[in-house]
Amino acid sequence: MSTSFRPDFSLQGKTALITGSTQGLGLVIARAYAASGARVIINGRDAERVSTIVKALIAEGHDAYPFVQDISRLADQELAFSQLCRSIGTPDILVNNVGIRIRKALGEATLQDIIELINVDLIAAVQLSRLAAGAMADNGLQGRLITLTSIAGELARLGDAIYPIAKQGLCGMIRALAVEYGPSGITSNGIAPGTFATESNAELAADPVKGPVVVGRNPLGRWARPDEIGGAAVFLAAPCSSYVNGHILVVDGGFSVTF
Ligand SMILES: NC(=O)c1ccc[n+]([C@@H]2O[C@H](COP(=O)([O-])OP(=O)(O)OC[C@H]3O[C@@H](n4cnc5c(N)ncnc54)[C@H](OP(=O)(O)O)[C@@H]3O)[C@@H](O)[C@H]2O)c1
Repeated sequence: MSTSFRPDFSLQGKTALITGSTQGLGLVIARAYAASGARVIINGRDAERVSTIVKALIAEGHDAYPFVQDISRLADQELAFSQLCRSIGTPDILVNNVGIRIRKALGEATLQDIIELINVDLIAAVQLSRLAAGAMADNGLQGRLITLTSIAGELARLGDAIYPIAKQGLCGMIRALAVEYGPSGITSNGIAPGTFATESNAELAADPVKGPVVVGRNPLGRWARPDEIGGAAVFLAAPCSSYVNGHILVVDGGFSVTF
Protein backbone atom coordinates (compact mmCIF):
# COMPACT_ATOMS: atom_id res chain seq x y z
CA MET A 1 0.00 0.00 0.00
CA SER A 2 1.40 3.38 -0.94
CA THR A 3 0.57 6.34 1.26
CA SER A 4 0.79 9.92 0.08
CA PHE A 5 1.43 12.46 2.78
CA ARG A 6 0.52 15.40 0.56
CA PRO A 7 -3.03 16.43 1.60
CA ASP A 8 -5.45 16.25 -1.34
CA PHE A 9 -7.41 19.49 -1.71
CA SER A 10 -8.56 18.76 -5.26
CA LEU A 11 -12.25 18.77 -6.21
CA GLN A 12 -11.57 17.49 -9.73
CA GLY A 13 -14.51 15.44 -11.02
CA LYS A 14 -16.88 16.64 -8.28
CA THR A 15 -20.11 18.56 -8.71
CA ALA A 16 -21.08 21.08 -6.03
CA LEU A 17 -24.41 22.79 -5.45
CA ILE A 18 -23.99 26.01 -3.46
CA THR A 19 -27.27 27.62 -2.42
CA GLY A 20 -27.38 31.41 -2.62
CA SER A 21 -24.23 31.73 -4.69
CA THR A 22 -24.78 34.92 -6.70
CA GLN A 23 -23.06 37.12 -4.11
CA GLY A 24 -21.35 37.13 -0.72
CA LEU A 25 -19.89 34.02 0.87
CA GLY A 26 -21.81 31.66 -1.45
CA LEU A 27 -20.18 33.20 -4.51
CA VAL A 28 -16.72 33.04 -2.89
CA ILE A 29 -17.27 29.35 -2.07
CA ALA A 30 -18.45 28.65 -5.64
CA ARG A 31 -15.35 30.39 -7.02
CA ALA A 32 -13.04 28.51 -4.63
CA TYR A 33 -14.64 25.19 -5.65
CA ALA A 34 -14.40 26.02 -9.36
CA ALA A 35 -10.74 26.98 -8.93
CA SER A 36 -10.21 23.60 -7.19
CA GLY A 37 -11.60 21.75 -10.20
CA ALA A 38 -15.28 21.23 -9.35
CA ARG A 39 -18.27 21.78 -11.57
CA VAL A 40 -20.34 24.34 -9.67
CA ILE A 41 -24.09 24.80 -9.62
CA ILE A 42 -24.94 28.46 -9.06
CA ASN A 43 -28.20 29.11 -7.22
CA GLY A 44 -30.29 32.19 -6.54
CA ARG A 45 -33.81 33.45 -7.11
CA ASP A 46 -32.95 35.91 -9.87
CA ALA A 47 -32.42 34.24 -13.27
CA GLU A 48 -30.41 37.13 -14.66
CA ARG A 49 -27.98 37.28 -11.72
CA VAL A 50 -27.50 33.50 -11.83
CA SER A 51 -26.90 33.59 -15.58
CA THR A 52 -24.35 36.43 -15.27
CA ILE A 53 -22.29 34.45 -12.74
CA VAL A 54 -22.51 31.22 -14.72
CA LYS A 55 -21.39 32.98 -17.92
CA ALA A 56 -18.50 34.69 -16.10
CA LEU A 57 -17.28 31.39 -14.64
CA ILE A 58 -17.52 29.63 -18.00
CA ALA A 59 -15.64 32.51 -19.67
CA GLU A 60 -12.86 31.99 -17.09
CA GLY A 61 -12.61 28.32 -18.13
CA HIS A 62 -14.66 26.78 -15.30
CA ASP A 63 -17.58 24.39 -15.47
CA ALA A 64 -20.74 26.06 -14.14
CA TYR A 65 -24.46 25.36 -14.30
CA PRO A 66 -27.49 27.47 -13.30
CA PHE A 67 -30.12 26.49 -10.71
CA VAL A 68 -32.70 29.27 -10.46
CA GLN A 69 -34.81 28.36 -7.48
CA ASP A 70 -36.12 29.92 -4.27
CA ILE A 71 -34.96 27.21 -1.89
CA SER A 72 -37.38 28.38 0.80
CA ARG A 73 -40.37 27.33 -1.34
CA LEU A 74 -40.60 23.95 0.32
CA ALA A 75 -43.47 22.66 -1.81
CA ASP A 76 -41.34 23.06 -4.97
CA GLN A 77 -38.02 21.90 -3.56
CA GLU A 78 -38.27 18.15 -4.18
CA LEU A 79 -39.33 18.52 -7.81
CA ALA A 80 -36.72 21.21 -8.51
CA PHE A 81 -33.93 19.14 -6.94
CA SER A 82 -34.91 15.94 -8.77
CA GLN A 83 -35.02 17.84 -12.09
CA LEU A 84 -31.55 19.22 -11.35
CA CYS A 85 -30.25 15.70 -10.62
CA ARG A 86 -31.82 14.41 -13.85
CA SER A 87 -30.20 17.20 -15.91
CA ILE A 88 -26.67 17.04 -14.57
CA GLY A 89 -26.47 14.23 -12.03
CA THR A 90 -26.60 14.16 -8.24
CA PRO A 91 -24.24 16.71 -6.68
CA ASP A 92 -21.33 15.23 -4.69
CA ILE A 93 -21.26 18.33 -2.50
CA LEU A 94 -24.12 20.41 -1.11
CA VAL A 95 -23.37 23.73 0.55
CA ASN A 96 -26.34 25.10 2.52
CA ASN A 97 -25.41 28.77 2.33
CA VAL A 98 -28.69 30.73 2.07
CA GLY A 99 -29.45 32.61 5.25
CA ILE A 100 -31.38 35.75 6.13
CA ARG A 101 -31.28 37.80 9.32
CA ILE A 102 -34.06 39.79 10.99
CA ARG A 103 -32.38 41.69 13.81
CA LYS A 104 -35.14 41.87 16.42
CA ALA A 105 -35.64 40.86 20.03
CA LEU A 106 -38.23 38.12 20.48
CA GLY A 107 -40.51 40.63 22.18
CA GLU A 108 -40.42 42.89 19.10
CA ALA A 109 -40.60 40.20 16.42
CA THR A 110 -43.89 39.25 14.80
CA LEU A 111 -44.89 35.63 14.43
CA GLN A 112 -44.45 36.18 10.68
CA ASP A 113 -40.80 37.28 11.24
CA ILE A 114 -40.14 34.12 13.25
CA ILE A 115 -41.79 31.80 10.74
CA GLU A 116 -40.04 33.45 7.77
CA LEU A 117 -36.54 33.32 9.23
CA ILE A 118 -36.85 29.76 10.54
CA ASN A 119 -38.30 28.61 7.24
CA VAL A 120 -35.50 30.14 5.12
CA ASP A 121 -32.52 29.56 7.44
CA LEU A 122 -33.43 26.21 9.00
CA ILE A 123 -36.29 24.25 7.47
CA ALA A 124 -35.25 24.84 3.84
CA ALA A 125 -31.73 23.56 4.66
CA VAL A 126 -33.07 20.52 6.52
CA GLN A 127 -35.35 19.63 3.61
CA LEU A 128 -32.66 20.15 0.94
CA SER A 129 -30.05 18.26 2.99
CA ARG A 130 -32.20 15.18 3.37
CA LEU A 131 -33.09 15.23 -0.34
CA ALA A 132 -29.40 15.58 -1.27
CA ALA A 133 -28.14 13.04 1.27
CA GLY A 134 -30.77 10.51 0.13
CA ALA A 135 -29.79 10.98 -3.53
CA MET A 136 -26.05 10.79 -2.67
CA ALA A 137 -26.63 7.53 -0.74
CA ASP A 138 -28.80 6.02 -3.51
CA ASN A 139 -26.02 6.76 -6.02
CA GLY A 140 -23.21 5.50 -3.80
CA LEU A 141 -21.52 8.91 -3.67
CA GLN A 142 -19.02 9.78 -0.94
CA GLY A 143 -21.03 12.97 -0.49
CA ARG A 144 -20.30 16.09 1.49
CA LEU A 145 -22.93 18.18 3.25
CA ILE A 146 -21.60 21.57 4.35
CA THR A 147 -23.76 24.10 6.16
CA LEU A 148 -23.08 27.76 6.89
CA THR A 149 -24.02 28.51 10.47
CA SER A 150 -22.55 31.51 12.30
CA ILE A 151 -20.91 32.37 15.59
CA ALA A 152 -24.59 32.92 16.51
CA GLY A 153 -24.81 29.12 16.21
CA GLU A 154 -23.26 29.01 19.71
CA LEU A 155 -23.87 32.50 21.09
CA ALA A 156 -26.74 34.94 21.48
CA ARG A 157 -26.93 38.71 21.33
CA LEU A 158 -29.46 41.12 22.79
CA GLY A 159 -31.90 42.38 20.14
CA ASP A 160 -31.14 39.60 17.65
CA ALA A 161 -33.04 36.51 18.83
CA ILE A 162 -34.48 34.63 15.86
CA TYR A 163 -31.23 34.20 13.94
CA PRO A 164 -29.44 32.29 16.77
CA ILE A 165 -32.52 30.12 17.23
CA ALA A 166 -32.30 29.07 13.56
CA LYS A 167 -28.49 28.81 13.44
CA GLN A 168 -28.35 26.72 16.64
CA GLY A 169 -30.96 24.46 15.04
CA LEU A 170 -28.64 24.10 12.04
CA CYS A 171 -25.84 22.96 14.37
CA GLY A 172 -28.16 20.18 15.52
CA MET A 173 -28.94 19.31 11.91
CA ILE A 174 -25.22 19.13 11.01
CA ARG A 175 -24.63 16.61 13.80
CA ALA A 176 -27.81 14.60 13.12
CA LEU A 177 -26.86 14.27 9.43
CA ALA A 178 -23.31 13.23 10.42
CA VAL A 179 -24.70 10.38 12.50
CA GLU A 180 -27.40 9.30 10.06
CA TYR A 181 -25.44 9.44 6.80
CA GLY A 182 -21.91 8.68 8.05
CA PRO A 183 -22.55 4.93 7.59
CA SER A 184 -23.25 5.66 3.89
CA GLY A 185 -19.88 7.42 3.55
CA ILE A 186 -21.42 10.89 3.52
CA THR A 187 -20.03 13.50 5.91
CA SER A 188 -21.81 16.53 7.34
CA ASN A 189 -19.93 19.52 8.68
CA GLY A 190 -20.49 23.21 9.30
CA ILE A 191 -18.70 26.50 8.89
CA ALA A 192 -19.36 29.23 11.46
CA PRO A 193 -18.28 32.57 9.99
CA GLY A 194 -17.68 35.60 12.18
CA THR A 195 -17.97 39.08 10.70
CA PHE A 196 -17.23 39.13 6.98
CA ALA A 197 -17.21 42.29 4.90
CA THR A 198 -19.86 41.04 2.49
CA GLU A 199 -22.66 43.00 0.82
CA SER A 200 -25.08 42.00 3.61
CA ASN A 201 -22.80 43.64 6.21
CA ALA A 202 -22.07 46.83 4.25
CA GLU A 203 -24.45 48.94 6.38
CA LEU A 204 -23.03 47.63 9.68
CA ALA A 205 -19.43 48.09 8.51
CA ALA A 206 -20.16 51.68 7.47
CA ASP A 207 -21.92 52.54 10.76
CA PRO A 208 -19.61 55.00 12.58
CA VAL A 209 -20.50 53.53 15.99
CA LYS A 210 -21.14 49.82 15.40
CA GLY A 211 -18.47 49.28 12.70
CA PRO A 212 -15.46 50.08 14.95
CA VAL A 213 -16.98 48.02 17.80
CA VAL A 214 -16.84 44.91 15.58
CA VAL A 215 -13.20 45.60 14.71
CA GLY A 216 -12.27 46.45 18.32
CA ARG A 217 -13.68 43.18 19.68
CA ASN A 218 -11.81 40.99 17.20
CA PRO A 219 -8.34 39.70 18.17
CA LEU A 220 -7.21 40.16 14.55
CA GLY A 221 -8.51 43.75 14.67
CA ARG A 222 -10.36 43.70 11.36
CA TRP A 223 -13.32 42.37 9.39
CA ALA A 224 -12.77 39.15 7.46
CA ARG A 225 -12.31 39.50 3.71
CA PRO A 226 -14.99 37.44 1.89
CA ASP A 227 -12.26 35.32 0.21
CA GLU A 228 -11.16 34.11 3.68
CA ILE A 229 -14.09 31.64 3.75
CA GLY A 230 -12.73 29.69 0.74
CA GLY A 231 -10.07 27.65 2.56
CA ALA A 232 -12.49 26.20 5.13
CA ALA A 233 -15.08 25.41 2.44
CA VAL A 234 -12.58 23.63 0.17
CA PHE A 235 -11.06 21.70 3.11
CA LEU A 236 -14.45 20.31 4.19
CA ALA A 237 -15.34 19.29 0.62
CA ALA A 238 -12.00 17.77 -0.40
CA PRO A 239 -10.52 14.28 0.12
CA CYS A 240 -8.11 15.63 2.79
CA SER A 241 -11.00 15.99 5.29
CA SER A 242 -12.39 12.48 4.71
CA TYR A 243 -12.46 11.62 8.45
CA VAL A 244 -13.91 14.96 9.61
CA ASN A 245 -17.61 14.43 10.37
CA GLY A 246 -20.03 16.38 12.57
CA HIS A 247 -17.59 19.26 13.04
CA ILE A 248 -18.33 22.99 12.94
CA LEU A 249 -15.30 24.99 11.85
CA VAL A 250 -15.28 28.51 13.29
CA VAL A 251 -13.80 31.17 10.97
CA ASP A 252 -14.05 34.33 13.07
CA GLY A 253 -10.51 35.63 13.70
CA GLY A 254 -10.87 34.55 17.34
CA PHE A 255 -13.93 36.75 18.00
CA SER A 256 -15.85 34.05 19.90
CA VAL A 257 -12.99 33.04 22.21
CA THR A 258 -12.64 36.49 23.80
CA PHE A 259 -14.71 37.73 26.72
N1 LIG B 1 -21.59 37.69 5.94
C1 LIG B 1 -21.24 37.35 7.16
O1 LIG B 1 -20.45 38.02 7.84
C2 LIG B 1 -21.81 36.11 7.80
C3 LIG B 1 -21.52 35.85 9.14
C4 LIG B 1 -22.03 34.70 9.73
C5 LIG B 1 -22.81 33.82 8.98
N2 LIG B 1 -23.09 34.12 7.70
C6 LIG B 1 -23.93 33.17 6.95
O2 LIG B 1 -23.34 32.89 5.70
C7 LIG B 1 -24.36 32.73 4.71
C8 LIG B 1 -24.13 33.68 3.55
O3 LIG B 1 -24.16 35.01 4.05
P1 LIG B 1 -23.92 36.27 3.08
O4 LIG B 1 -23.82 37.45 3.96
O5 LIG B 1 -22.82 35.97 2.13
O6 LIG B 1 -25.33 36.28 2.29
P2 LIG B 1 -25.91 37.35 1.25
O7 LIG B 1 -24.87 38.34 0.87
O8 LIG B 1 -27.19 37.85 1.83
O9 LIG B 1 -26.21 36.47 -0.05
C9 LIG B 1 -27.34 35.69 -0.13
C10 LIG B 1 -27.34 34.90 -1.44
O10 LIG B 1 -28.42 33.99 -1.36
C11 LIG B 1 -29.35 34.23 -2.42
N3 LIG B 1 -30.66 33.94 -1.82
C12 LIG B 1 -31.27 34.59 -0.82
N4 LIG B 1 -32.43 33.99 -0.51
C13 LIG B 1 -32.53 32.90 -1.32
C14 LIG B 1 -33.49 31.87 -1.46
N5 LIG B 1 -34.60 31.83 -0.71
N6 LIG B 1 -33.28 30.91 -2.39
C15 LIG B 1 -32.16 30.93 -3.17
N7 LIG B 1 -31.21 31.89 -3.06
C16 LIG B 1 -31.40 32.86 -2.16
C17 LIG B 1 -29.10 35.66 -2.85
O11 LIG B 1 -29.43 35.88 -4.20
P3 LIG B 1 -30.92 36.39 -4.66
O12 LIG B 1 -31.31 37.46 -3.66
O13 LIG B 1 -30.71 36.92 -6.04
O14 LIG B 1 -31.80 35.18 -4.59
C18 LIG B 1 -27.57 35.74 -2.67
O15 LIG B 1 -26.91 35.12 -3.75
C19 LIG B 1 -25.69 32.93 5.45
O16 LIG B 1 -26.19 31.69 5.86
C20 LIG B 1 -25.30 33.76 6.66
O17 LIG B 1 -26.19 33.59 7.75
C21 LIG B 1 -22.63 35.24 7.08
